[in-house]
Amino acid sequence: MKFFIDTANLKDIEEAKELGILDGVTTNPSLMAKEGVTGQSNIERHYRIIAEMVEGDISAEVIATDYHGIVEEGKHLAGLAPNIVVKVPMIKEGVKAISHLTQIGIKTNCTLIFSAGQAILAAKAGATYLSPFIGRIDDINWEGMDLIAQIAAIYNTQGYETEILAASIRSSKQIVDAALAGANVVTCPLKAIYGLLKHPLTDIGLANFLADHRKAAEVANG
Ligand code: G3P
Repeated sequence: MKFFIDTANLKDIEEAKELGILDGVTTNPSLMAKEGVTGQSNIERHYRIIAEMVEGDISAEVIATDYHGIVEEGKHLAGLAPNIVVKVPMIKEGVKAISHLTQIGIKTNCTLIFSAGQAILAAKAGATYLSPFIGRIDDINWEGMDLIAQIAAIYNTQGYETEILAASIRSSKQIVDAALAGANVVTCPLKAIYGLLKHPLTDIGLANFLADHRKAAEVANG
């Protein structure tokens, strides 16, 4: 399973990159706004910076909601850097645009996925990635991870090549559950990645190893 970081924060991206496990980045208009990145030229500059920092795929979301607008904006975003993937919402015009962008060789990430039916449409259109929003499904007291498992089963049976990118992931447990359920990629905040490190027995075990090593050295040195 690939690890993407879900942020437009350059410091967090750098930190995840230094950990040596980062395969890509996802952003959206809310995450860009959270970092105070506004205005067309600043937004494009920010995408270029991220695309240079990280070798893997960088999702940049379109604002247009009509077919021609999405296609034109998608071509423009894809032209900013070779590793930009155009993020397109799951709407009728978006599906048409994904189909066209795929035909002309531009990678896409179909976003705002909340059902298996939407996942089938996105795969048929040729989306490179599919982003089911797990946390937002959990927010309304449904089981987000069931959707990942359902889509994984369908894609497997049908031989669809679209990669399942588990999104709206907020906890470390959700990362593990997404891996179990068959996600190809998980995108999450830095703190959820760091949460995977933690286990009290690791801390206790390491403290004991170091203490035993110290004691043995003291004995040897008299
Ligand atoms: O990847 C999609 C993500 O940014 C949405 O997350 O936490 O706003 O539901 P959240």
